[in-house]
Amino acid sequence: MCGIVGYIGKRDAYPILIKGLHRLEYRGYDSAGVALINPQQVLNVYKSQGKVSALEDTARSQDLTGSIGIAHTRWATHGIPNHTNAHPQVSQNGRIAIVHNGIIENYAELKANLLKQGVHFNSDTDTEVIAQQIAYIQEVEHLTMVEAVRRTLQQAVGSYAICVLDNAMPDTIVAARKGSPLVVGVGDDEYFLGSDASPIIEYTQRIIYLEDGEMVVLHKGQKPQISDLEGHERPYSIQHITMTVDDLEKGGYPHFMLKEICEQPQSLAACMRSRLVENEICLPEVDKDIDMWLNARRIIITACGTSLYAGMAGKYAIEELAHIPVETDYASEFRYRHPVIQKGDIVIAISQSGETADTLAAIDQAKQNGAKVVSICNVIGSSIPRASDSVIYTMVGPEIGVASTKAFTAQVTVLMMIAILLGYRKGVITESRYRSLVNELQALPQKASEIIKRENTIRDMAQAISFAPNVLYIGRGYNYPTALEGALKLKEISYIHAEGYPAAEMKHGPIALISQDMPVVAIATDSPIYDKLVSNIQEIRARQGHVMAIVTEGDKKVSQMADKTVCIPATAECLSPLLAIIPLQLLSYHVACLKGCNVDQPRNLAKSVTVE
Ligand code: AGP
Repeated sequence: MCGIVGYIGKRDAYPILIKGLHRLEYRGYDSAGVALINPQQVLNVYKSQGKVSALEDTARSQDLTGSIGIAHTRWATHGIPNHTNAHPQVSQNGRIAIVHNGIIENYAELKANLLKQGVHFNSDTDTEVIAQQIAYIQEVEHLTMVEAVRRTLQQAVGSYAICVLDNAMPDTIVAARKGSPLVVGVGDDEYFLGSDASPIIEYTQRIIYLEDGEMVVLHKGQKPQISDLEGHERPYSIQHITMTVDDLEKGGYPHFMLKEICEQPQSLAACMRSRLVENEICLPEVDKDIDMWLNARRIIITACGTSLYAGMAGKYAIEELAHIPVETDYASEFRYRHPVIQKGDIVIAISQSGETADTLAAIDQAKQNGAKVVSICNVIGSSIPRASDSVIYTMVGPEIGVASTKAFTAQVTVLMMIAILLGYRKGVITESRYRSLVNELQALPQKASEIIKRENTIRDMAQAISFAPNVLYIGRGYNYPTALEGALKLKEISYIHAEGYPAAEMKHGPIALISQDMPVVAIATDSPIYDKLVSNIQEIRARQGHVMAIVTEGDKKVSQMADKTVCIPATAECLSPLLAIIPLQLLSYHVACLKGCNVDQPRNLAKSVTVE
């Protein structure tokens, strides 16, 4: 939800800011802007509706000099995505420029006060209110920019990551965060700011993570000063991150999503690398609290979107293999529905980005109620792991495509490893079942790469679906969550309405929808309830429904009934979602390409949902 980048140092700021915005474009892409202070201390602001490339067109042939600047790519919350509402927002005296990610909840109240004082507003944004308030306090109370920012933030309610420029202080950027991410990159006599490390790593791998409620003052030639909103300074440590520029490039693929789908053999291996040691599951993050896990009264899994569907697959496995009751809940519901949490409950919060606002709030809620919170997260050092009691990282590197793919398979893999380990330690599964499941885990990367080789068959299936206005996805047991995730993938990038259903529920309503125009994607892999699913598919065929099926190699029955099939290698039932989802990811990718949709940046969406 909005990407922020800032630079202060010796180089020209503009190219660094623009490159940074391109790296952050996955966070929002409805307008973009940049503010620079040139050597004559003039504040130049350029903005444009649309993507970062449109901003580049606007800025071309303008004064782009200056070695200090801030920039923004927007996902609109307040005010339609147009030029006026794009960031940076500037105060009416032309001194203060600000970029902001988040929502200022009391902006209307602050704005009403400023209007009474004769301040004029240009935009509909909550961000402009902050810019005007900083400038107003500065003028009325004769404060420095740093103090005026601090005073303004003390009055602001809501979430924010902001970077502020004052053309009267051309050697200083002030930045702050609360509820939205912001990191500082430390170079040689230069500093970078970013919503995450991706705009920074090209220049430095030395990062400072700002904590919630903190401000940083970056002044040329001086060390960063980090303080809370009361002005108390805190010592900080600089961390070294391992992400590389290659992780952020498409690597020859036309889209990040396709790259991320195709790298799943490697990402699955990376996720398991240090966790399958000499044929044993080795999860130090679980082992250190093994009594808590073995005695857990109940596990509550909370997350949003794809991450919740991963959690649902985890529920099936933890209940079957470890006999621990598991509930799953949308974080947005969990946070407000007064859930009953008791001693002995463990809450697992799952998030790729580690910044999802609802998941963060659910963690707060769980902790206030005394639960232990373990997060499963991809982005190292992000807010969710830092808010949790412990974290298991998925270790699959940056995921840039808005549609989550490799993060999903890694989240499911971690959950399966937890379930298998707990099942074994509790004596619910036998030694030989444990060994066989470990062997199956080890075989996953190879099996995933065999599926990716079947891309042509999947493209063929995509042709058949691309004209449909609606598609139903059905599955049972472990692959009911796969059906939900497959449907989400299709709707978010191809804008085709799709729903996931437990196959047996069809006859309780949705079967009324079946016609020649409503294809059904059936996940009909090997399982003890395979024959039940065969009957469900027959019911659809009897009503002239077209069926596209994902089946296990060697399948006979469904393959004869379905219009088109894709085979996946056999695996343990609990691991089947990890393989079955890959053809569904490729299916949605190819449908979106056939429809000419923007695969990596689907309309109305952003990768990290840092607002409610
Ligand atoms: C999935 O393709 C979506 N982009 C979305 O549902 C996503 O999974 C959800 O917003 C949760 O994000 P998180 O994993 O970063 O918390």
